[in-house]
Amino acid sequence: MENVVSGIRPTGNLHLGNYFGAVTSFVKMQDDYNCKFFIADWHSLTTHPKPEDIQASTNTILAEYLACGIDPEKSVVYMQSDVPEVLELYMYLNMNTYLGELERVTTFKEKARKQPDNVNAGLLTYPTLMAADILIHRALKVPVGKDQEQNMEMARKCARRFNNIYGVDFFPEPQSFYFAKEAIKIPGLDGSGKMGKSEGNCIYLKDDAKTIQKKVMKAVTDSGPTEPNSEKPEVIKNLFTFLNIVSAPETVQFFEEKWNDCSIRYGDLKKQLAQDIIGYTEPIRERINEYSANKELLRKVAEQGAEKARESARQTLAEVRQIIGFKQY
Ligand code: AMP
Ligand code: TRP
Repeated sequence: MENVVSGIRPTGNLHLGNYFGAVTSFVKMQDDYNCKFFIADWHSLTTHPKPEDIQASTNTILAEYLACGIDPEKSVVYMQSDVPEVLELYMYLNMNTYLGELERVTTFKEKARKQPDNVNAGLLTYPTLMAADILIHRALKVPVGKDQEQNMEMARKCARRFNNIYGVDFFPEPQSFYFAKEAIKIPGLDGSGKMGKSEGNCIYLKDDAKTIQKKVMKAVTDSGPTEPNSEKPEVIKNLFTFLNIVSAPETVQFFEEKWNDCSIRYGDLKKQLAQDIIGYTEPIRERINEYSANKELLRKVAEQGAEKARESARQTLAEVRQIIGFKQY
């Protein structure tokens, strides 16, 4: 079975972007691939979180992974910081990665703009740590959302360059993986292109029905179509993107027709959308609460995951050390 790896930074709760962009793929892949899903706690240090916040968020994400249907009997679920082998590989990869190419990564440029007084080296080398996460298990497929494309390109570059420098065929080039025909980008409902934590426009899996309803009802719209069959403006397209993901095909068709004959009422669309999002998230929310309360289970899952992840990481690193010319420890 092919190796699959993916991770999410513990910087708060999972939102619908994480869920539909990444976690639903994690769940669907578990039966057919050799899957490893981790919590990227080292990556979250670029913004200097407090120790107590790290602990709380890693536990939250772990409970949310399980609540979404990641099964620790089928997949290896672990914390990035439990696998120190990743750091050694990160260091080797950094030696072969150039300042210019790291500076050109859009997410780095964006972050540097957003936090100008904290443009740290970890932020710059974020893509090589991500490459190490993937290459340490020699993964072939990585389920991620559209926003990770550039980081994935860097991971492939790291694999290729290592192979070239040492004249080996050791690391396979990892590919992004989507279940849909193309990469998914969940829009924000505030008129922005993307739902994201730093955008402050998230609907979270753990939001209760009332909160979801409030957030959806506040979604930005326009004054409505005036010409039949007209092109939808961005904010309306965003609503339909959502509808396409969470609602039944008949519902989508119903509102498409209403749009096309200019009789659409955004209030009705939002009510339906809120209801369908709640239908999706309510059972997950109940399970999140159950798993969050079961600290013992979370501890066991992380412990068992760490052991399995390290076993795989150790094997890769032993070969890497040999290829580079170092002895084993
Ligand atoms: P992040 O919350 O930025 O750490 O993202 C974790 C995972 O969720 C990555 O695979 C992202 O590509 C995915 N993701 C985050 N936001 C979105 C979004 N709005 N649409 C699609 N995927 C997303
Ligand atoms: N960069 C990813 C994000 O922001 C998180 C991540 C870290 C990741 N390492 C990874 C995703 C390895 C896939 C594989 O969402």
